[in-house]
Amino acid sequence: MPLARKTIKEEMAMNIKVTPQIDELYECDGLVFLCQEGEKNNLSRSLCNLPPQLKTAVEDFAAKRSDWGKKGKCYEFHTHKSLLAEYLLFVGVGKAADGNALRHAGAVAGRHANTLNLQSLAVFLADEGKEKVAVTFVEGILSGVYSFARYQSEHKAKSLNTVKFFSTAEEAPKISKSILEIVTTIEGVYLARDLVSTPSNDMTPQHLAEQALLLADANLKVRILGPQEILSQGMNALYSVAKGSLNEPRLIIMEYQGTEDQKTSVALVGKGLTFDSGGISLKPSENMGEMKSDMAGAAAVMATIANIAKLKLKQNVVGIIPALENMPDGNSYKPGDVLQSLAKISIEITNTDAEGRVALADALAYARSYNPRLIIDIATLTGACSIAVGRELIAMMGNAEGHKKKLEKISHEVGEPVWELPLWEGYRELLKSDIADLINSAGREAGTITAGLFLERFVGDFPWIHLDIASTAWTSKNKDFLPKGATGVGVKLLTSFIKKMEEAS
Ligand code: BES
Ligand code: MN
Ligand code: ZN
Repeated sequence: MPLARKTIKEEMAMNIKVTPQIDELYECDGLVFLCQEGEKNNLSRSLCNLPPQLKTAVEDFAAKRSDWGKKGKCYEFHTHKSLLAEYLLFVGVGKAADGNALRHAGAVAGRHANTLNLQSLAVFLADEGKEKVAVTFVEGILSGVYSFARYQSEHKAKSLNTVKFFSTAEEAPKISKSILEIVTTIEGVYLARDLVSTPSNDMTPQHLAEQALLLADANLKVRILGPQEILSQGMNALYSVAKGSLNEPRLIIMEYQGTEDQKTSVALVGKGLTFDSGGISLKPSENMGEMKSDMAGAAAVMATIANIAKLKLKQNVVGIIPALENMPDGNSYKPGDVLQSLAKISIEITNTDAEGRVALADALAYARSYNPRLIIDIATLTGACSIAVGRELIAMMGNAEGHKKKLEKISHEVGEPVWELPLWEGYRELLKSDIADLINSAGREAGTITAGLFLERFVGDFPWIHLDIASTAWTSKNKDFLPKGATGVGVKLLTSFIKKMEEAS
């Protein structure tokens, strides 16, 4: 079965090598040095293999630069061919040189290489923590050089196609393996970004479903329910949200079987609003186009499942994606309507723009039929999320204490940090309805929490984690290692989390 997109290898012909030959390292267009802030004096150590003249020139050059080693800062030094490498690139990793600084440095180096039209980079690594540094740096390069150009008729191909690292012959296979794994993971990030960036005139619910079908293989079954099946199976809430659109809804079901064990370990549920106009409670027109990204949760689920299938993880995972559009029309669902949901909980609609939770209500109830050990939903659910936690954090809620702790720890490691908000008991009454079991929108105050409290009603007693990615799925400017646009947030987090579950079981 073909993949939904070419692999990174095909697409960018990015060749990543780990070589035990130090000479080979110098055969490149750009030799990269990672520089720590305030450690200029240690520079001579990493330059020790350079010809003495060049070494002195670089040291003089560095001495004049006050922001040497600053996170995200890149200095180029032209060797004028006094070395095989035409350029030396000195990339700052700040004081901490932590994961995010290395990702940032990778992205900066990758973009800089493309600007200078360099085809190959070789990265000079210190001895300590080589594997982690190499892997994280590669992650940064791949993450940073991404662009979404398929709608542009003129697009300059990227020059960078090779990245090399030096390592001892014993270490090389292990480092190569870890690099391969991160490349697979970032392929998923690319897939998610592509899906999210594709405008809603192309990315209809049907098209999203077709993309899921392309991912199917022997261990990954993909089923699609159309509008009639959605309705006949009792998912009236989901069906109703989609009524105003000519593009009919789909429920995408992806079942990955990685072990003979019949038990489903995780059900991933992703909000798949291919466009959210707000419906009858229409949104203001400013930046409304960004609402093509309201399926970023769905994209994260699809890409995660694609990743774990490629990594052949020994877990059974199901992905449930309600794919639909929220539009105003004579046939739209309206404020005041009462909808019966699959969980037999009735919902009074107070705002048709709080549509995600209504669609997710049925998807979560559907996920329960798999009897999973854990349900994780991921959704661009509330604008209030950016007010509550800002643009760097994913808001997390849920009842699965142990799993939340693990997810939180991993989130910091992979650079997609989560911050927990409480499912605050006292706010439950804000969702009370006069005529139904609950209302869908409790207004602005604690909007991210009340959305979480709404979803909670539909998971029953199942262990569950809710991730609100409304403030992290899209960036309107280049940010560290994230190019402007869709971020693909959630893919690294969920892939790593499920991988950790595998290791623990
Ligand atoms: N898809 C939006 C949330 C969103 C807003 C995501 C901005 C990304 C950026 C969601 O469907 C929505 O409209 N939520 C409403 C809820 C309100 C009516 C209670 C919101 O946040 O305004
Ligand atoms: Mn909305
Ligand atoms: Zn929405």
